[in-house]
Amino acid sequence: MNLFPLSLLLISLAGCIVMSISMVEATKNSKADSQLPLYYGWFVKPEYSSSFLSKSHKLLADTLQEIPNFLKDVQNFTQKVYISDILLHYTRENPEEVLHCTAMYNGVYPNYSPGAEEYSEKQLVKDSVNQVSTLHSIGWILTPRTFGARIKLTNDQLLLWNQNDTEGNPLQSAVNAKKPISPVTYYQRSITFKENSTDQDPDVMGNFQPTSGYGSKAHLTLGCSPGVAAVTTGYDLVDLIRLEGTNSSEVKTYDLSNGGWLRNYGEGQWVFYPTKQFLLESTFLGYGSGSGTRGLEASFALLCLLCSSAIISMFKELS
Ligand SMILES: *[C@@H]1O[C@H](CO)[C@@H](O)[C@H](O)[C@H]1NC(C)=O
Ligand SMILES: *[C@@H]1O[C@H](CO)[C@@H](O)[C@H](O)[C@H]1NC(C)=O
Ligand SMILES: *[C@@H]1O[C@H](CO)[C@@H](O)[C@H](O)[C@H]1NC(C)=O
Ligand SMILES: *[C@@H]1O[C@H](CO)[C@@H](O)[C@H](O)[C@H]1NC(C)=O
Repeated sequence: MNLFPLSLLLISLAGCIVMSISMVEATKNSKADSQLPLYYGWFVKPEYSSSFLSKSHKLLADTLQEIPNFLKDVQNFTQKVYISDILLHYTRENPEEVLHCTAMYNGVYPNYSPGAEEYSEKQLVKDSVNQVSTLHSIGWILTPRTFGARIKLTNDQLLLWNQNDTEGNPLQSAVNAKKPISPVTYYQRSITFKENSTDQDPDVMGNFQPTSGYGSKAHLTLGCSPGVAAVTTGYDLVDLIRLEGTNSSEVKTYDLSNGGWLRNYGEGQWVFYPTKQFLLESTFLGYGSGSGTRGLEASFALLCLLCSSAIISMFKELS
């Protein structure tokens, strides 16, 4: 009898047990019910997260190739010559995690953000946890600090929004103050890649300020340059939306051959205005500590179950 599948099964089961134990420990240690999640947000489903990340990197690579002025500027501020190295310059703290759009940042006990307890107590927030909705990614930004996707929230999603849409980059450092910690990891590795895109809505198409005001800071962090915290992506987006509103003659617009436009707002700040939007199925969750991680635990349990059953059936076939 071939022992290979059996050993795979044992390894996988051991992995599940270790993971479950550490999850129980994490819950015990976090004064379960008294603590709020670190933040609430929409977590892109793994199969959409992986494919959207690849798509975003491809778009960036293609555009660098196509627009020499863009390449020159990015080469200058990243100090990287080759496109492949530029792509690697923007990294994610936890590359295995699914992309997410933060709706409310609570912070860590006892230094919660203002309104954190009230937000968590809202019936709408409680009812929305574990609900699936679609995030509309309508464009991308690239700066010397961050690479991000710009989200246009739906009216229902705006009801859950609780972020400061006018808080741009602090003039001096302190950008790392809100650096999120990640007690659990929600894996994006997925067997299936799913993609869903459609034409841009008429109010967004060709509009060089497609979002502004309430909810406009909504984004997905796709990567940060070395030493830059993910929270900076939102600040960069806020700064860019302000620049979009000033209508400066310094702004340069480039037509892209695959459709859409690239604009440079100076100081290495670039925005892509595509003709397509990406629809990303996402789950609203509290993330980080206390009761907020239950949804993630459930996902893990399911993943383990699927994994084990796949291996068991393979074992049966082979023996
Ligand atoms: C290159 O970057 C430096 C700052 O890092 C800036 O002062 C300079 O103007 C840039 N050069 C070009 C050609 O953009
Ligand atoms: C948002 O941030 C800006 C800039 O830091 C600040 O002036 C403003 O008071 C903040 N708004 C709210 C509602 O906290
Ligand atoms: C794409 O997303 C829209 C909006 O969520 C949905 O109505 C549609 O069924 C999705 N299409 C596919 C092929 O998944
Ligand atoms: C920006 O400038 C152009 C022409 O210079 C003008 O047609 C347009 O209305 C201006 N937009 C805003 C938002 O001021």
